[in-house]
Amino acid sequence: MLVPEPDCCLCGLCDGRTTIVLPDGNLLSKVVFVGEAPGENEDLQGRPFVGKSGKILADAMALAGISRSDVMITNTVKCRPPSNRDPKPEEMEACRPFLESELSGRSLVVGLGKSAIRDLIDYDGKMADIVNRIVDLDIGDGTVRFLPTYHPAACIYNKSARVALAEAMGIVRSYL
Ligand code: URA
Repeated sequence: MLVPEPDCCLCGLCDGRTTIVLPDGNLLSKVVFVGEAPGENEDLQGRPFVGKSGKILADAMALAGISRSDVMITNTVKCRPPSNRDPKPEEMEACRPFLESELSGRSLVVGLGKSAIRDLIDYDGKMADIVNRIVDLDIGDGTVRFLPTYHPAACIYNKSARVALAEAMGIVRSYL
């Protein structure tokens, strides 16, 4: 797996970060979750999904009998965007070689939320039209299955997103 240099400054996000947030969980898993970008807690601790969204994700996983050590967890960009704004296309582009090396050869890539889905399959339509519908994703020299679903943060006030994320975890379970 390709990893950014500790002093990586391939995009402007290096200016505001505390830590580069590298993939976590089971780095050899067949299943990878891709979130948007590190938030404040992730930036401080250097691990993805350890804040509020991480708790929602962990709870959804646990309901399906999945633990953090069953899957790999990463983000489209490895550094926190200022004020948690969405990562810009050029920032995702700069981080792309790392993401590509993380995803190639896996069985299932789970895109958590709009940024990951836009970055990976270039889809910018309604979430409801694509959620939990598996498509092929060409990555590196091969193809993996891609499962677009809701970001855990979208589940806070949206019951149907919660239900869909739970359903996605059921699909994930069948790949493990
Ligand atoms: N949200 C994300 O998309 N990724 C994280 O690591 C944390 C919150």
